[in-house]
Amino acid sequence: DHLKAAPALAAFGFLTACVGPQSALDPAGRDAETLADLFFWLVAGAVVLWVLMNGLMFYAWRAKPRPISPKTGRWLIFGGGIVFPTVVLAGLLSYGLSVIPDQRAPGEGLRVEITGEQWWFRVAYWPEGATEPIHSANEVVFPVGQRSELTLKADQVIHSFWLPSLAGKTDMIPGRVNRMSLEPTEPGEFRGQCAEYCGESHAWMAFTALTLMPEEFDAFLQDLAAPAVPPDTEVGQAGRTAFMAHGCGGCHTIRGTPARGNVGPDLTHVGSRLNLAAGALDVTVPDLAAWITDPKAIKAGAKMPAYDHLDPDEIVAMAVYLEGLK
Ligand code: CUA
Repeated sequence: DHLKAAPALAAFGFLTACVGPQSALDPAGRDAETLADLFFWLVAGAVVLWVLMNGLMFYAWRAKPRPISPKTGRWLIFGGGIVFPTVVLAGLLSYGLSVIPDQRAPGEGLRVEITGEQWWFRVAYWPEGATEPIHSANEVVFPVGQRSELTLKADQVIHSFWLPSLAGKTDMIPGRVNRMSLEPTEPGEFRGQCAEYCGESHAWMAFTALTLMPEEFDAFLQDLAAPAVPPDTEVGQAGRTAFMAHGCGGCHTIRGTPARGNVGPDLTHVGSRLNLAAGALDVTVPDLAAWITDPKAIKAGAKMPAYDHLDPDEIVAMAVYLEGLK
């Protein structure tokens, strides 16, 4: 019975892969639209050829043996074996080359610098004319209808930035700066994923991409640039004290506090992000507490040390503090 269900499951898998927040076939960006069109034209071409070839094969199989002249035979081989595939393949190739988007086209204002870390994404926004960047992590926000430029880097090993709903895929290579640009066509929330094996938590290296209308995007960037507003509850304050006392600021920055570390993700507005630990967790108090307690239990090889020696109440307080950093 399991075997009988397999084809149905496979068909379900193929069909559901066509829509959703991480699909090249459900595009929400200029370049992704072109790539999806190209895919469907190539599939249509392949279907026509498949039907034609199988039709001929079926005909040859059923046909009564009938001698043909050597001249006709030579023409069949020359025409069917050389001219026909050359014309068809050259046609599809030149169509493909003519529509493939220039993924390195220059941007129109915003530049986002994204660095692949083990195993998360460091994000820095450079709005037009900015002299210093606005930092974030594991979440990239783009304005709709405007071509944004990405500069892609890596710290230790090769990663690959893949955001199929909006654009293609570009490697992030240590010692190099790769460029890519993209133009979202509609507001929405999408999922991206590291697409180059980069170590034990490669599969847990995802990010969220959010596309906002230009005026919402400006408001978002303004909020992001502002220092953190800590929660003014008693637990939140206790959490802040614990965060600073246990040296978390040695690795993390929270702008507006003494925490200025640069090793781990910037946590200034971590409470308003759409994911935690590069897509492994949600930004909730229980998930934050679980992460602080033992990151490696959630994500193999995570560089952050475990804090399971601390009093659980203190960990919950830190989680409340971080969740409150909106
Ligand atoms: Cu980073 Cu795979």
